[in-house]
Amino acid sequence: MIDHDVLIIGAGLAGMRAALSAVENGADVAVVTKVYPVRSHSNAAQGGINAALSHQGDDWRDHAYDTVKGSDFLGDQDAIEIMCREAGDEVVAMEHMGVIFSRDEDGRLGTRSFGGQQKARTFFVADFTGQALLHVLYEQILKANVNIYDEWFLLSLLVEDGECCGAVVMEISSGEIHVIRAKAVIMASGGLGRVFEPSTNALICTGDGMAAAYRAGASLMDMEMVQYHPTTLKGSGVLITEGARGDGAYLLNSEGDRFMKTYAPNMMELASRDVVSRSEQLEIDAGRGIDGCVMLDMRHLGERFINERLSQIREIGKDFANVDVVYEPIPVRPGMHYQMGGIKTDVNGLTQLPGLYSAGEAACVSVHGGNRLGANSLLDTLVFGRRSGQHASDAVKGKSHKNVGESAADGDRSHIQRLLANDSGNELFGRVRREMGDTMNQHFAVYRNQAGMDEGLSKVRALKERVGKVYVPDKGKTFNTNLMFSLELDMMLDCAEAVAVSATDRPESRGAHTRSDFPDRDDENWLKHILVTKSDDGPQIDYLDVVITDWKPEIRSY
Ligand code: FUM
Repeated sequence: MIDHDVLIIGAGLAGMRAALSAVENGADVAVVTKVYPVRSHSNAAQGGINAALSHQGDDWRDHAYDTVKGSDFLGDQDAIEIMCREAGDEVVAMEHMGVIFSRDEDGRLGTRSFGGQQKARTFFVADFTGQALLHVLYEQILKANVNIYDEWFLLSLLVEDGECCGAVVMEISSGEIHVIRAKAVIMASGGLGRVFEPSTNALICTGDGMAAAYRAGASLMDMEMVQYHPTTLKGSGVLITEGARGDGAYLLNSEGDRFMKTYAPNMMELASRDVVSRSEQLEIDAGRGIDGCVMLDMRHLGERFINERLSQIREIGKDFANVDVVYEPIPVRPGMHYQMGGIKTDVNGLTQLPGLYSAGEAACVSVHGGNRLGANSLLDTLVFGRRSGQHASDAVKGKSHKNVGESAADGDRSHIQRLLANDSGNELFGRVRREMGDTMNQHFAVYRNQAGMDEGLSKVRALKERVGKVYVPDKGKTFNTNLMFSLELDMMLDCAEAVAVSATDRPESRGAHTRSDFPDRDDENWLKHILVTKSDDGPQIDYLDVVITDWKPEIRSY
């Protein structure tokens, strides 16, 4: 048995920021991560991190207003205020830790424009901001002697007397199962992107933490709000950063027309993501796309500029689409990118399950509501990672471990044995996963309707029946990724069901949840969050009012 004060699941930006603040607050901290920390999906964040810094004549209240409007008024305004107020200090702290942000001509921290914002307030490191932040935070947690269990996979959370008190995890290299007792657990395991296919997300983004928290009794909130990013690459779905449009790239249809002037005449390509994705989809559906895509044109930016600020995009274009963006437009389309919903927390990361905190994409504070602004996710990971680390480490002071023993892992051990005993006539993991991804992308994408979502939900439920029968050919213990992927798939389907039941429950269009059968926003009846909690009868739905502070809902146009 292993004991720590604070156990963090996930070593992306939220997890490492939480670890740093908890260890600085005197706690004995451990991080469990299924990949080596610097391989976490935060690595893939390209364009930047938002903050209103006063030396630029910006104000956190303007950032907060843009975020509230971007969320289509579903974001909780108390949480948004905290995030935007604390953003500047967080960016400066990261700079002081060693992040080499791109600079302006005067040598000060530079910004680029990002969608849905009145000011250029996105701080960036070329087009690999997440990677730069991640590596610096990793150095910091090594220096602070945080215990790191890398390539350990979460199986379940421990709950005793109604309180989360640790986790059951599998050491991937040996297959050994461990019980880790903790006085507080912070779930920072990232998103569920790969529940959809394609997705900009890494293959590791399988919603494990959301599912484990849900199974342990925490509620998931805003799960119907799934962000489709406007510029994902044809075929593979790889992200082409919004930073390209922020730096001046534009979108063209098959007639060579900058169609965004029809849909968002003021902000054009820099309207909110949900708006741009819907516009692209309408163009494609009207026959003005090219092979299911529109074109992103950045030729006018010039080779020197592209090499300096968008070099990764140039490489991705060449490697994955055989397109050199210096000379040709690149085909893009809306693709699954981010889950605005997640484990419901308060502004200190505490979930509805005592002892369990959450931060980052796994969590729903909710600062993104119906649609997240680009470059607010890195910010969310850092601000609420830090806050959850701080509060969890305060909460464990003077607390002792719950009296749980090795037998706490028995349920997971028998689940694994049952899975390994499935015979070869049963389901193939890859087939179930592909059907799930296709189902979600078909029925819960940019435009939705009741019949389609009902069909999607019943397909997901049928897949849930099949997942227990998946055949695991590798019966070994060493790096049995075959087993791990099957366990992940089971968790993904819980997430898929939570998305589907929430989406079918909301009869209006708000943010990323756009319904052709209910095209309008309905503030009178639906200015509220949908929560999903596990019950014996399946997912149970509840509602929670949106927190409004200064900004009353208004018509949203760009
Ligand atoms: O487009 C991007 O660079 C993505 C950023 C984000 O999702 O915040």
